[in-house]
Amino acid sequence: MAYNNKSVLFCMICFISTGWILAKEEQCSEAGIFPGSSKREFIVCTPSGPDGKQLIRTKQTCPINTVYENRRCVPKVIVPYSAATNGDSAVATADANKGNGDKGGDDIKMTCKTHGLLCTTCKELSICIGDEIGQGDIVYNEIHMMTCKADEVCVPGKGCVSSKDNFCPYRKFECSDMGIYPDPYDCTRYYRCDPTSKKDVKTTPSKCSDGSFNSTSASCGYPMDTTSCLTTPIPICKAIFQMGPVPDNLSIYYICIPDDETRTLAPVLYRCPANKKFDISTLTCT
Ligand SMILES: *[C@@H]1O[C@H](CO)[C@@H](O)[C@H](O)[C@H]1NC(C)=O
Ligand SMILES: *[C@@H]1O[C@H](CO)[C@@H](O)[C@H](O)[C@H]1NC(C)=O
Repeated sequence: MAYNNKSVLFCMICFISTGWILAKEEQCSEAGIFPGSSKREFIVCTPSGPDGKQLIRTKQTCPINTVYENRRCVPKVIVPYSAATNGDSAVATADANKGNGDKGGDDIKMTCKTHGLLCTTCKELSICIGDEIGQGDIVYNEIHMMTCKADEVCVPGKGCVSSKDNFCPYRKFECSDMGIYPDPYDCTRYYRCDPTSKKDVKTTPSKCSDGSFNSTSASCGYPMDTTSCLTTPIPICKAIFQMGPVPDNLSIYYICIPDDETRTLAPVLYRCPANKKFDISTLTCT
């Protein structure tokens, strides 16, 4: 065993430095969503732990035939017009006007579902009070409390607070991948995200004509007492880059992405590659 001391030392240094470089690359320095090593991949650094101070690094993959671009999974190639306009099986009527307006949360209006304080919009704070209407049935009435000041946003659990260091959790939905997605806030609405002829994804909002939307079957007509309707179809964003599955369809997941301009922090929905489901323990599609 005649090892040369110098080469042993050299190799220890090379191992240590390789390990250090790898470790450095595998760690998150800030919460965020970043391009990955291939065109379909992206890296999400999501907060975790009791105080949300640790960061977990996960690698996500856009579905086949799409590429990751600017926080979205867009078609890899320009889609011919006929394919771009192909329909799907969802039953509902398109609600053409809902898609207009600005990007902020102003056109999102939350309604009372339980008692307590509620930010009905990014600017309005109300209190919801339950009224028993016999047989244990309760209706919740909304009493408007205040309009937030110009430099404030309404944040659940906090009320009207400075928009400088807080985000409002409501923002108009925009497609980030193809498929059919539930509205994050309203169980009777959903969105169709179709590829367009411009290597882009088009958002078409729809409202169920009857009952609630079911993300698993991607159709309407379901009861109004589902968990999605009693709470919200997607959990309300609390932390920047928080992520998780859509409870009703584990092949879709959300990432809470902030928008500095509108001071909103809203779920952006992605789908897992075919036949994969979002796994809560690893925070990836497996
Ligand atoms: C879940 O959502 C995806 C994406 O919209 C859809 O393709 C799929 O059919 C849905 N249902 C299940 C069971 O995955
Ligand atoms: C949604 O649809 C699936 C598939 O049809 C069904 O198994 C499930 O029970 C539905 N969910 C609700 C809450 O009705």
